[in-house]
Amino acid sequence: MSNGVLKSGPGAIALPRSASPLVKAKQLLYAHFERPDLDMTERYLVDFGLVQAMRSENELFMRGTGTAPYIYRVTRGRNARFLGMGLSVPNAEDLELLARRFGSRVERAPGPGSGAVVHLRDPDGVAVHVHHGFVESEPLVVRAQILHNAPSLTVRVNDTQRPKLEPPQVTKLGHLVLETPDFNRSVRWYMDTFGFIPSDVMCLADGTPVGSFTRLDRGSEPTDHHTVFIAMGMESKVDHVAFEVVDLDAVEMGQQVLMAKPYRHAWGVGRHLLGSQIFDYWRDPWGQKHEHYADGDLFDAAQPPGYHLMDRGGLYQWGPDLPDDFIDARMTPARLWRVLKLSIKDKARVKLLLALKNSMARPGRQWQR
Ligand SMILES: [Fe+2]
Repeated sequence: MSNGVLKSGPGAIALPRSASPLVKAKQLLYAHFERPDLDMTERYLVDFGLVQAMRSENELFMRGTGTAPYIYRVTRGRNARFLGMGLSVPNAEDLELLARRFGSRVERAPGPGSGAVVHLRDPDGVAVHVHHGFVESEPLVVRAQILHNAPSLTVRVNDTQRPKLEPPQVTKLGHLVLETPDFNRSVRWYMDTFGFIPSDVMCLADGTPVGSFTRLDRGSEPTDHHTVFIAMGMESKVDHVAFEVVDLDAVEMGQQVLMAKPYRHAWGVGRHLLGSQIFDYWRDPWGQKHEHYADGDLFDAAQPPGYHLMDRGGLYQWGPDLPDDFIDARMTPARLWRVLKLSIKDKARVKLLLALKNSMARPGRQWQR
C-alpha cells in the first residue's frame, strides 16, 4: 500500500496559506441541493440520520443534533443538482466587508435561524451563502456512546453491547468535496476569501498540486482536518457531502439501516488516510454520494501542511477495494467536447488532467495489480 507521501522526485510545489484573508469563516453550515421530489429526498435524509427542521411546499431544511439551525437545504426544482453551501463568519462586519468586496449586499436569511446573509459565487459559479447573527437551535439529545472494553481497560462487566438498529444520529455537516476545472484559482479563492488553510495537499508525481484538504482557521481551537476538499476535475461539481456520526457503531448501523432500503452503496466501511475518518458512502436517489464518518483528525492552526501523491491507495488505510465507479472518470460526450475545446486553448491543463487520470487509474492495492 502506498502511504502517498512525496519522497522523491522534484518535490512538491508549495501551496502557501493566504497572508491576509478577507475574513475567516467560522463554520460550515449546510449544503444546498435542488431536487425534483422533496418527499423522496426527505425519506432518504431521514434514513440517513437527519431530522426535519422546517418544510414548505418548495423548501426542505434538515438538521443534525448540533446547534446549526439546518445542515441541509433542498429546493424543489426541475433538476437534481448541487446549488451551493452555507458558511458562517464571526462578525457582522465580515458580512459588510464581503458585500463591499464582491458587489453584493447583506440580506435577511431565509429558513430556520434567520439572521443576515451575503450571497457570493466562487470562481466556478458555486453559490456560497455567508451567514451571521442567526439564532442557534437547541441541540438534540445525543444517545450515549457505547463503552468499549479493551485488553487493558475494562469498562463494561455483566452488561452487553446492543446498539439500536436505527438511523445514526448525525451531529453535523463535516465537509464538502468540490471538483473544479481550475484548481489553483479555486483553492486560492477559498483561502484568500475565507482563510481556509491547507491540511494536506495532493500532488502529481512532478509535484504539481491538484487537490487540497483545507480546514477552517480557528487559531488555537482545534478544527476538523478538512471542511472543504478542493480537487482538480473535468468540471465543477460536488463529489460528496460528509456528515459526522458519533462512533464506529453508528457508521455500521447506518449501513445496516440503508442496506435494507432501496439505496445504492458507494464505498465502505473503511478508514481514510488523510483525515483518518472511519467512513461509509451512500448514494441518494439521484446518485449523489453522502458520507457517514466518525473519528476524524482535529488540527489547530499551527499544524503545517503535508504533501502527498494523489492516488487511489492514498485514499484509505483499510477497507474494501475502492470501487471503480466511486471516482467518475467516464469520458462522456460532454466531457470529450470539453477536452477538445481545452486542447485548443489550454494544452497545459489537458496535460494535467491526463496525468491526474493516470494517477487515479493506478490500482490502490497490491492484490489489484
Ligand atoms: Fe469525505
